[in-house]
Amino acid sequence: MQVIHLSVECFPVAKVGGLADVVGSLPKYQRQLGVDAAVMMPYFDRKFTQDHEFESIAKGEIYQGSALLSYEVLRESKDTLGFPLYLIRIPGVLDREEVYCYPDEAEQWIAFQYAVLHYLKTNELKPDVLHCHDHHVGLIPFLIRYTNDYRSLADIRTVFTVHNGQYQGWMNWNKGILLPGFDTWKWGLLDWDGLINPLATAIKCCDAYTTVSEGYLEELYEEANGLQALFYDERGKSHGIVNGIDPAYWDPINDQLIIENYGIAQVDEGKLANKKILCTQYGLDPALPLLSFIGRFASEKGADILAPIIEDLLSPADVQLSVFILGSGDANIQNSIAALTQRFKGRLGVFFGYNEGLAHQVYAASDLLIMPSRVEPCGLNQLYALKYGTIPIVRKIGGLKDTVIDVEDAGYGFVFADVDAAQAAATVRRALTYISDEKQFDEIRANAMELDFSWHKSAQKYIDLYNQLLR
Ligand code: GLC
Repeated sequence: MQVIHLSVECFPVAKVGGLADVVGSLPKYQRQLGVDAAVMMPYFDRKFTQDHEFESIAKGEIYQGSALLSYEVLRESKDTLGFPLYLIRIPGVLDREEVYCYPDEAEQWIAFQYAVLHYLKTNELKPDVLHCHDHHVGLIPFLIRYTNDYRSLADIRTVFTVHNGQYQGWMNWNKGILLPGFDTWKWGLLDWDGLINPLATAIKCCDAYTTVSEGYLEELYEEANGLQALFYDERGKSHGIVNGIDPAYWDPINDQLIIENYGIAQVDEGKLANKKILCTQYGLDPALPLLSFIGRFASEKGADILAPIIEDLLSPADVQLSVFILGSGDANIQNSIAALTQRFKGRLGVFFGYNEGLAHQVYAASDLLIMPSRVEPCGLNQLYALKYGTIPIVRKIGGLKDTVIDVEDAGYGFVFADVDAAQAAATVRRALTYISDEKQFDEIRANAMELDFSWHKSAQKYIDLYNQLLR
């Protein structure tokens, strides 16, 4: 069975969030299960593409409105990722440094999708499944069925995975001219509330859609940034499949990015060694429990309540806790946290930006990780944390609800109900009472580290789904 994953992020080629981690690991585990899986994504002018060798395997031209765009398909020569990686390069459109935030993003992703289809068609390639990830590639299931030029691809099965239903790729209908050749009487499949909505199009036209946890699927039926009725209506083809993590990158026993490797047996010493390094660097006391946050500063992640949580926790002068924040995003949120650094000097460490290596070190060094998310389709950070013996404190939502069980229910984490700073801080204090009982905390930690959130089960679930569609 041949499967091509289509995505605009893939770790380590181009990563902004969890989408990249999933697309960069799922295909590898599918290949181990006998599926011929590959990734096709836009070309980015970044470290990975500069450092690796590629061969040009095809060239072609597509129309975008009246402009003729030339594309080239590059394949990574040495398959260093454990799966074939194909990049579509279009000079001036798909050859930039950043993944997102360009004003012509709609043009970029439309060009990518048309180039993929043109390449498949002209080279007579017919994978069994096109597995599309998030709205950037949401038009594919529509285009293969309802575009004159690509109807020869119409019987390829399409699976669409929703990693984040908040973003939908909305476009004004004046962008319709960028979609040459579609059956105009099918325009309703592109439309949602007067806009072209690629996420809605994907859900309407794909053979099956999946969400990255079961909890999130249930939530989308209720609230999906305007698409809840659609998700519910199409529920017959929906599946919740929880993400896995890749132990090749995320396992403290062999993680190349942390100072001291450790397994369950050495977790106390291992964590302390990592904590000492991090704390020394940021002027924190390594003898105190360390609580961290890692992620995007977005209200979706509840990052707007981080500052009040920190204030609540660190205000008492005798508090036995340090806090470390690693992230970037919304400037107001960042300012609210920066404003606290002087006041809580010696107890609050911050790094504003994205730093993959530091993130690994923070998981290894921390005792607790907080995720006060408003929306969390799956969440990978709590899974990484568990693997590193870092106990997650999470809001009960989406994938967090599915993967973190509270210690009071015989689990290995701490769960709170609402996006509320006082509630979150109280839950941190509850966790601290467990930390003070060393034997009990060691047990919780060991339970956490023994959990198996690797890809094996979920990669197979996707394969079962493909098989079901191909039958
Ligand atoms: C998005 C979601 C996150 C999920 C990730 C990978 O980033 O916000 O919850 O884990 O995609 O599926």
